[in-house]
Amino acid sequence: MNKPAVTHQIMDQFSHQAGQLLVGGKTLDQIATLLDKEVFYAYDKMVIQAQIEKFRAYVPHPIKLHFAIKANPLPALVHYVAPLVDGLDVASQKELLIALQSSMPAEEISFAGPAKGEQEIRAAIVAGVTLNIESELELERAVKAGQLLNLLPRIAFRVNPAFELKASGMKMAGGAKQFGIDEERLIEMLPELDYSEIDFQGFHIFCGSQNLKPEALTEAHTQTFALAEKLVGLCPVPVKSINLGGGFGIPYFAGERRLDLSPIGENLKSLLGGTPIDLDTTELVMELGRYLVAEAGVYACKVTDIKPSRGQTFVMTNGGLHHHLSNSGNFGQVIRKNYPVAIGNKLDQDASVQVNVAGPLCTPLDSLADRVWLPQTEVGDWFVVYQSGAYGATASPQDFLGHPHVAEILL
Ligand SMILES: Cc1ncc(COP(=O)(O)O)c(C=O)c1O
Repeated sequence: MNKPAVTHQIMDQFSHQAGQLLVGGKTLDQIATLLDKEVFYAYDKMVIQAQIEKFRAYVPHPIKLHFAIKANPLPALVHYVAPLVDGLDVASQKELLIALQSSMPAEEISFAGPAKGEQEIRAAIVAGVTLNIESELELERAVKAGQLLNLLPRIAFRVNPAFELKASGMKMAGGAKQFGIDEERLIEMLPELDYSEIDFQGFHIFCGSQNLKPEALTEAHTQTFALAEKLVGLCPVPVKSINLGGGFGIPYFAGERRLDLSPIGENLKSLLGGTPIDLDTTELVMELGRYLVAEAGVYACKVTDIKPSRGQTFVMTNGGLHHHLSNSGNFGQVIRKNYPVAIGNKLDQDASVQVNVAGPLCTPLDSLADRVWLPQTEVGDWFVVYQSGAYGATASPQDFLGHPHVAEILL
């Protein structure tokens, strides 16, 4: 059987030694000893730092960087990232508590998410973080909660713009959406609001996620600036902050390549140069999750069996869908695609055999890799899934079928 012509991005963000993958300078055997666990996510601090530096190198400095902790809310990781970025974005009360206990000041934390509970709204107001308001009723609830708590709620409006972010893994704006308030409605609301009831911050314009097309991102940035300028012009009070969104993707599948930030940075520079928004008084923010952390994480599990079946080979492992849903194909994606994978203790060996890799769950959906080329694999080897630092452990159904949960470590 021939190897496929379309290949994965080379996973060169980690170092290795004598064929052993190193995460934070440790081999997988060493990490297993540290954790006393043979299935885990390991995240490399230096790779996270490098991604943040890449953002800072290309995106012009007036634009601040926030980390959307939904991508990886492991407290140790959030605490590591907090001093390296300018703010954190949370999506629930649990995430709020993690962010609040980091070094990030509350004023630099924002809380976005549709259908917030009244308890979440109260907690956000008491914490002093910015609530990204997603509906008119949510605004009413926040104002009322603020009055009861005798605190002025910090409010930004999440906008559902008329445009969309093309070629995104997930589109979160444009057309009819459950996120934010439609641009047309906000335009009617802004001149009529009672600004004395709120500590008005500005706008949150988040259009989508997992985008690898610079031209789509630059087009969305240009439209986002135009919309922000229009909204600022309608506000009778100063606008302190505008969140321009994010959506920077990372390469997961064969044929995908790392996002080129250079045209994105150039376009942002020219938008900054031409904007009537006063950048001395209004801060601009971008909000990224996976771009900052996904490349830094691997999922590692042990090969427990190798079995032939009608001409194919199945490499069986102690890890699977319950720990890493997105790699398995999200409970039955129409066409399942492989993440980049490896045998983490045989990086110096040629990929000479074609195998399927499956986990311990009694469902055909528990697939870690289909027809991938790996070195000759044995029981006891480490099977590794790269690009696993975001939407892994917390985005997976860990209780499904009752197998043990996965360990996590930041090194
Ligand atoms: C409001 C908001 N911010 C940030 C993100 C993070 O997206 P990503 O991890 O792709 O950067 C999302 C993703 O769903 C989001 O909804």
